[in-house]
Amino acid sequence: MLGFAASLRERSMQDYNYKVVRQFSIMTVVWGIVGMLVGVVIAAQLAWPALNFDLPWLHFGRLRPLHTNAVIFAFGGCALMGTSLYIVQRTCQAKLISDGLASFVFWGWQLVIVLAAITLPMGLTTSKEYAELEWPIDILITIVWVAYAILFFGTIMRRRTQHIYVANWFFSAFIIAVAILHIINSLAIPVTMTKSYSIYSGSVDAMVQWWYGHNAVGFFLTAGFLGIMYYFVPKQAERPVYSYRLSVVHFWALIAVYVWAGPHHLHYTTLPDWAQSLGMVMSLILLAPSWGGMINGIMTLSGAWDKLRNDPILKFLVVSLSFYGMSTFEGPMMAIKSVNALSHYTDWTIGHVHSGALGWVAMISIGAMYHLIPILFGKKQGEMHSVKLIDLHFWLATIGTVLYIASMWVNGLMQGLMWRAVNDDGTLTYSFVESVEASFPGYVVRFIGGGLFFAGMLVMAYNVWMTTRNAPGMSQKLEASA
Ligand code: HEM
Ligand code: HEM
Repeated sequence: MLGFAASLRERSMQDYNYKVVRQFSIMTVVWGIVGMLVGVVIAAQLAWPALNFDLPWLHFGRLRPLHTNAVIFAFGGCALMGTSLYIVQRTCQAKLISDGLASFVFWGWQLVIVLAAITLPMGLTTSKEYAELEWPIDILITIVWVAYAILFFGTIMRRRTQHIYVANWFFSAFIIAVAILHIINSLAIPVTMTKSYSIYSGSVDAMVQWWYGHNAVGFFLTAGFLGIMYYFVPKQAERPVYSYRLSVVHFWALIAVYVWAGPHHLHYTTLPDWAQSLGMVMSLILLAPSWGGMINGIMTLSGAWDKLRNDPILKFLVVSLSFYGMSTFEGPMMAIKSVNALSHYTDWTIGHVHSGALGWVAMISIGAMYHLIPILFGKKQGEMHSVKLIDLHFWLATIGTVLYIASMWVNGLMQGLMWRAVNDDGTLTYSFVESVEASFPGYVVRFIGGGLFFAGMLVMAYNVWMTTRNAPGMSQKLEASA
């Protein structure tokens, strides 16, 4: 029986292109470590600014976009591309349409990341948040993304199943939406090789930028990871998805509503008031599909809750859904204009971002990688070198996330309240610098929380190294599936 299972595994390694999935999975861990290390450094700089060392390329302003690009597009991007290319093959029972194209997508994406890591510390930036890279890199991103789309949709077209599994719908929405967002928001007039000017200006520029920014959250940081959720939660729990009907409603409602919510980033700006109100209302409606998805994921565990006791991979997946629920409750609340009047510009936003980024995006990616990496290296599902170390990682990540977001909530509320406090005579009660001083303890706690999360990633790297290093006959298998 064991021999039969092993031979099945062997066969699937040869029938599918696992090489590109392996490459993306390993780079997910590598870029996760790099991106989070930069996160820890900038967290330290906000507590102890002297850590800038007066070197321009170590300045907060340059390292911050390096952090966001590395964690979102390098860590998150590799996790999404790797898992989507695995899931599409497994659920369509078809090999990727081209090994050459798969290699091009992998190496092209790595080149984009390396170029970002060189140009951002040099201070080369469009200054549009999450779209900082200059025009030649933007063109490269477009080419690689189109290649990725051809690879993914081409594989769906040659599927041997009648049905397209719901995870693939979420990946499809992610791939199409990101292409549209990237191209439209990046339209610019180049002046030199390293400088361009956006074709948009003023309020229109702001609107296009936050239509992009919010949907980068919606389609990059949410839809794609929901694709991961719909495949790996049922697989790890060994249960079918709780409700297939709910997943259909979830999908259409989410993509229909997300695109309208961007103006909540521009409350009390020059954007027309009706557009701001529309963004607020759409954000409140967004709570429903978001929670529908979360409930569908969590309820998939019905009848299998006992597995949570000793399966740390499942813990990662389920806790990520809880954080998803939390951040998608908090988001709509922050989109209410009067709440946003308090939260905007404060660390509350940063807390919200990281309850989504660490709690949801990073945790679900980590859980998926622990499930996937042993399979990719010829072992059984979840057969990592040490389950205890996965458990240790789980606790480091959970405690790290909680310290991060709790400290930012405290800081955010305090800052918002201090800035609006007025004396009887109408003068401000606190100067700005007093609010910075009062934020110091929160910054230290955030640094500790981020440090714990980062330490967990190092534990993961060791565990992955030990798992893949000991994989028997790996080199032959790598060749066979190349
Ligand atoms: C060890 C883990 C991490 C640490 C210590 C960390 C730290 C930081 C710090 C200090 C900032 C700047 C905050 C500010 O300007 O006030 C920041 C911003 C940001 N980080 Fe992280 N981060 C971590 C992980 C992540 C991950 C995994 C993601 C995404 C998947 C992420 C996404 C972001 C985003 C989107 C911003 C910009 C937020 C905004 O502009 O509102 N971070 N991070
Ligand atoms: C129903 C879902 C959500 C809604 C309605 C929502 C709403 C909001 C609001 C109102 C803000 C503050 C805007 C401001 O004052 O500048 C914000 C910021 C942000 N949210 Fe969410 N959020 C949601 C889910 C998420 C999730 C799941 C993530 C991450 C995975 C996320 C990532 C971010 C980021 C990165 C920012 C900061 C953008 C920036 O200023 O740089 N959000 N969100």
